[in-house]
Amino acid sequence: MRVRLDIKRQRDAQSAPYLQSILYESGDENVTLASALGDIDAGGFKDTDGREVEPIIREQSCLQKKCGACAVVVDGRPALACGTRLRDFERKGYVNVGPLRKFPVIADLLVDRSVIFSQLTQLGIWAENALPCPENTDDIAYEASRCLQCGCCLEVCPNFCPGEKFFGMSAAAAASRLLEQLPPSERRELEKAYSRHFYSGCGKSLACRDICPAGIDTESLMVNSNAAAVWKFLGRRKHG
Ligand code: SF4
Ligand code: SF4
Ligand code: FES
Repeated sequence: MRVRLDIKRQRDAQSAPYLQSILYESGDENVTLASALGDIDAGGFKDTDGREVEPIIREQSCLQKKCGACAVVVDGRPALACGTRLRDFERKGYVNVGPLRKFPVIADLLVDRSVIFSQLTQLGIWAENALPCPENTDDIAYEASRCLQCGCCLEVCPNFCPGEKFFGMSAAAAASRLLEQLPPSERRELEKAYSRHFYSGCGKSLACRDICPAGIDTESLMVNSNAAAVWKFLGRRKHG
C-alpha cells in the first residue's frame, strides 16, 4: 500500500498554513490514516522536498471510532482519521488531509472544538437523577447516546457557524436523549432551548445524516425531538 499524504500544516494559530507532501508505504492493506500519522510521528520520514517531517500535531485517543477526537477533513469531507483506510486512495495516488474548517486551528490538524461543549452547557444538558440505560438498540435514546461529539456534522451543516444562535446536530443529538427520557415536567427549559437553538435554525438538508461517522440516524432524532419539544410544547400552550 503506497499513497502520498498531502497534509495541511500550521505551526500555530498565528502562522500561515502550508502543504507538506509525504510518501507513505505500508505492508498493511488495512492501515488507517491515524496509524499512518502515528508512523510518521515515530520519525524517519522526509517530505517530497527532502525535509525531515516534524510530528503532526493532532488529537486522537481510542483509535476505535468511539471517541470522535481524531476528526479531520479528508479530501474535502470530514471523517475520523482512525476510520479512514488509506487503500481507498491508493488508485488515485494521493489524499488531502486538513483540520476541520469551522473551528479555530491551534496547530496542524488540532482545532479548538470547545464551542461544542459550551453549547451543551447553554442547553442545560444534564439530568438531576440517573437515567436508565436504553433497553434496546432501536430506542431513540440509544441512538442519541451514540453521538461522539466529533463535530463532523457541523463541518458540513450549511446553517452552523460557531458562536451563533443555531447550535447544529451535535447539540441536538445530545438533547434528543433527554427529550426522550426525561418526564415532561423536568424538560421544559430544554424544550425551549432546543426550539431556540436548533429547531428554528435547521434547514433539514440532512447533510449531517449523510456524513455522521457513527452512522447516527439524525433524521429520526430530529423528528422525535421536534415532536417532543416543539409540537407538543405548542399544543400545551394552545390548550393551556
Ligand atoms: S451527530 Fe454524528 S457527526 Fe455529529 S457530532 Fe454526533 S457523531 Fe459526530
Ligand atoms: S439537517 Fe441540515 S441544517 Fe439541520 S443540522 Fe443537519 S446539516 Fe444542519
Ligand atoms: S481516535 Fe477515537 S474516534 Fe478516532
